[in-house]
Amino acid sequence: MCGIAGYVGKRNAVLVVTEALKKLSYRGYDSAGIATASGVIRTVKCAGKIECLEERLKENPLPAVNMGIGHTRWATHGAVTDENSHPHGTADVTIVHNGIIENYLLLKQKLISFGYTFKSETDSEVGALLIDYFYKKTHDPLTALREATSKFHGSYAIAAIFKDCPDTIFTVRRESPILIGVGTDEIFIASDIPAFLSYTKRYFRLGEGEIAKITPDGFKVYDRRGDEVKKNLQHAPFDAESAEKGGFAHFMRKEISEESGIVSRLISMYSDGHGLPFFDLSADIIKNTSHITVIGCGTAYHAGLYLKYLLEKLAKIRTECHVASEFRYTEPLFDKNELVIVISQSGETADTLSCLREVKALGVKTLGIVNVVGSAIATEADEVIYTHAGVEIAVASTKAYTAQCTVAALLATYFAASRSVMERQQVREIALELKKLPDAIMHATRAEDAIAEVAEEIKDAENLFFIGRRADYIAAIEGSLKLKEISYIHSECYPAGELKHGTISLITEKTPVVALFGDREMLPKMLSNLKEAASRGAKSIAISAPDKDIAEVADIMVDMPRCGELFFPIAMASMLQLLAYHTALKRGCDVDQPRNLAKSVTVE
Ligand code: AGP
Repeated sequence: MCGIAGYVGKRNAVLVVTEALKKLSYRGYDSAGIATASGVIRTVKCAGKIECLEERLKENPLPAVNMGIGHTRWATHGAVTDENSHPHGTADVTIVHNGIIENYLLLKQKLISFGYTFKSETDSEVGALLIDYFYKKTHDPLTALREATSKFHGSYAIAAIFKDCPDTIFTVRRESPILIGVGTDEIFIASDIPAFLSYTKRYFRLGEGEIAKITPDGFKVYDRRGDEVKKNLQHAPFDAESAEKGGFAHFMRKEISEESGIVSRLISMYSDGHGLPFFDLSADIIKNTSHITVIGCGTAYHAGLYLKYLLEKLAKIRTECHVASEFRYTEPLFDKNELVIVISQSGETADTLSCLREVKALGVKTLGIVNVVGSAIATEADEVIYTHAGVEIAVASTKAYTAQCTVAALLATYFAASRSVMERQQVREIALELKKLPDAIMHATRAEDAIAEVAEEIKDAENLFFIGRRADYIAAIEGSLKLKEISYIHSECYPAGELKHGTISLITEKTPVVALFGDREMLPKMLSNLKEAASRGAKSIAISAPDKDIAEVADIMVDMPRCGELFFPIAMASMLQLLAYHTALKRGCDVDQPRNLAKSVTVE
């Protein structure tokens, strides 16, 4: 899940590609590199973030030419070294690659037997040298790419330049995304839209197995057989500013600040003329579905747990929720009227996409809840609901999660209403509760100082526990992931009643325990669970409405947002995101680009 970029036009390609890599660095920031071709192919690359590459380019400047390709890496094969950085290739052909060539060791052996030697440990260099092998045989870049990629197992998005083809970039993909930005007398290649948004909003997605030839005169796209394919240009639904920090210190903080507005827009977008939840979905999905399976990864999986909770509670539909990387290797038992709902911010996550393809192959109806318009999951699912959260740059997903949970609440209510499981009056009451959410979310921002104080209290912890019951537990699971992801504190989340069945042995003096008290009916149970932890010396932090019984037990109390208990995970999300944000800041962590992570996971 790297970021690749390319440019052909009248501007200085080195500057354009470097800027594009900065905009794509949320896809991986282990190393970076650029290559240009003007008579000879020149490459500058190094381990480290884009800034290291800029330093390297000052020491070893590339000529100001009009064509270049670049890469920002999330290491999969081979350590984070200069040698393993992209671009990879020979004096005749050089490539940047996003994806995994699973059979690279086999291909490597073949190439070694043909006399090739390798400088890196990467699968990508094997791909480059195989392209070089076929290019030496055919002297035709398109044929060389087609021949070589037909031997690859796995996923790839490749941009390639050939010494003999100045001002031309060739690009090909399978599974990993490639977008082509079309400007005036210039063309951009990128893994995602932010890379070229400040130059053009017109773009198209390269299809599965398609190859494109990009020159200053324009582009030509060919399918697997080599037949030319006509492409319709799409228009990016957001501005370059959306890919900027907009005055905030971090993308994560900016994206949290957008949540209230996004939720308000989603509620009006997915409501009918009476203000009741409505989705333009097929009657078959709404009326006939007897069982639902929800699938996702990471934060999207957590939104799936919330959707499961609400579909069972409100619409009385038996629902399962699975982690995609596990689900794809099980033999699921599906009902005749099964519906599989896949949730994804990027719409490119490999495990979720594979699950979608596998269940579709079994003839099961599929619905995607996706943020990125036109992404693979959005286009391949039978029906799609967009979460309209806009571009999410920070690796830790925040606004997309809150948007996914809001769609979950609206969708479960719509199912319940459409299947007459709920009286119209009840639906109206829920719709009224939902309308309180934008303000409840703003509560978190108003409580930011109190949250920052809690961060001060927990910043030196090595281990920490979140506890909750029912919807609170679901809210806490995501809060725990956020804290882990960006502050590197080993945080675990437990159903509050489960602690005493073993894990409580891990609680020692000052182990912080964060308890969520959104569910008032479960308050007495939660209180005794917090007492159990406090009596072992835990530093107990309660997020709750003012309550004297809780105040007697908790070392710290933070006032929670006011909203219906069912929607607590939505209102609570930004509060726990801010807790993670401030804790990470106090620990001096890289909030937007946490170590070892990348935004969209396009490899298994
Ligand atoms: C969340 O902060 C992480 N970035 C990660 O868990 C993410 O949610 C997961 O990789 C799924 O991504 P998706 O929603 O783009 O499919």
